[in-house]
Amino acid sequence: MLSLLTTTAGVGLALPWLAAAVVHTPTPPMGWNSYNYYNCYPNETIIKDNARGLVELGLSAVGYDVVTPDCGWPSKNRTADGQITWNPELFPSGFPALGEYLHGLGLKFGLYSGAGVWECTPDNGDATVGHEVEDAHTFAAWGGDALKYDNCWANIDTMIRFVDYNPSEKDPSVRFAAMSDALDSVNRSIVFSICQWGVGQDLGVWALKYGDTWRISNDIQDNWKSIWRIVNQAVPYVKHTGIGKYIDMDMLTVGLGALSYEEERFHFGMWAISKSPLVIGAPANASITSEESLAILSNKDVVALNQDLLGEQAQLIRRYTEEEYDIFAGNLSESRKVIGVANWSNSSKSVNIDLQLVGVQKSGNIRDVWAAKDLGQYEGAVKVDLKGHEAKLLILPVSAQLIYDVEPLYYPAATGILQGDAMSASCGGGCLPKGSKVTNMTVGSSVTFSNVSGGVLGGMKLIGIDYINYDVALASAWTNGTNTRNFTLSVNGGEPRRWSFPISGGDWYETGRLDVLLEGFHVGSVNELRVEAPGLDPGADLVGLAVYT
Ligand code: GAL
Repeated sequence: MLSLLTTTAGVGLALPWLAAAVVHTPTPPMGWNSYNYYNCYPNETIIKDNARGLVELGLSAVGYDVVTPDCGWPSKNRTADGQITWNPELFPSGFPALGEYLHGLGLKFGLYSGAGVWECTPDNGDATVGHEVEDAHTFAAWGGDALKYDNCWANIDTMIRFVDYNPSEKDPSVRFAAMSDALDSVNRSIVFSICQWGVGQDLGVWALKYGDTWRISNDIQDNWKSIWRIVNQAVPYVKHTGIGKYIDMDMLTVGLGALSYEEERFHFGMWAISKSPLVIGAPANASITSEESLAILSNKDVVALNQDLLGEQAQLIRRYTEEEYDIFAGNLSESRKVIGVANWSNSSKSVNIDLQLVGVQKSGNIRDVWAAKDLGQYEGAVKVDLKGHEAKLLILPVSAQLIYDVEPLYYPAATGILQGDAMSASCGGGCLPKGSKVTNMTVGSSVTFSNVSGGVLGGMKLIGIDYINYDVALASAWTNGTNTRNFTLSVNGGEPRRWSFPISGGDWYETGRLDVLLEGFHVGSVNELRVEAPGLDPGADLVGLAVYT
């Protein structure tokens, strides 16, 4: 069933864009941005103080070097010859001088504009749409090293809403492509960070062509539930990310005061292993931002996970919704893996991680990154103790890697017995592997599979659930949007168990797979497996089940 392979590296990734595209930022950018603390009210003193703070607190030495005044920096009107310009009351020395100041400190100058007509608050001034080439030249002339490019007032036809979650435009990528081309035409390397929040379909497919990083979600808020929402939205992008192409999970809220110590470490660690840019949103000022938070941001070992040269986004390997924890894993350079064990629950727990889950038979010395402790060598499994809301990060040197050569049996959802509102729908090649799915899984609707194989052993089985969830929290990000849909699964009339399914891809056709372990199988093809939308909200669309007997 499983074979062993002695591995030399977790490399060999197919990165089709690398051959053609210029890599502006081989590892995720790191820096500081004014928005999370100063909102749209930056000024010269604020930016300079924080820039000096980054240097004095040692944060720039850890890698945080791009300093970005976010919204609120420009003059309300362009110059007589149409150039975007700074607000002289807020920035009396001007932007070229600010660029020089930052460069003098060994930092980089990040600029902010947008693919719309105005900044999000029109009084804050113009954005760039229609002025791409001029603005790219202006930003380069000011010594700009990076550009965060937002999406407000983008619906040029109607101009009715500053944020439009249902735009009439067919293809948002056009506005971002125009700026990407303009930046390519200037004689300066400028990292391009798309901030389109994931409105419309297939962000992962188009954004990597134009951006070095791209925001996948609506804004982070300074609360714990934002972390769950954004992590669930990040999951499917493992298909699209790689060296020089990173998802942006938004600026860090570490140090802003709402998260507990464990929650701040959880947030920072998850952003790090997901290869999100690490952009500090708290003041770089020891008298405002606690020592604990500054120590989290300064943790070189966690930052090294983010800056690993393989650039691989850690993947959701297993989810245990009722037990409230997840296991993420990803390859690191030098034949290592990182495992993130994320405890979403308020209470502490001990979990036993089967190393087979991450394809490892034997590990070298496992390192607990936050504890800065070596745990020794492991074969088979490793036990981890977690506090409430703790995410443990483990590094494993991999000496022997498992290859799974088992073919599962596949049960397409449309062959099950549908109850409630469930109905089958075709979805072409989109919902692989079968091209059909069961949709409309309202509360209480279900799909029951009969004669499911329990193999020759019965007992516990690994089931790959192919599903589709594109219920993206845009407007609902501000209330209780979670980016998840739920199903319960039960075997042979046993107790139903619930799983939360994260976003699966760029539309209602793109399939994701969540692997779960289910007990209670009998030997042979005699089992009944029921998938039901529990009394929470609608279930995901169901494509089929892969049962590993
Ligand atoms: C939002 C963006 C935020 C911040 C804000 C400024 O659209 O997602 O990160 O830049 O605009 O108004």
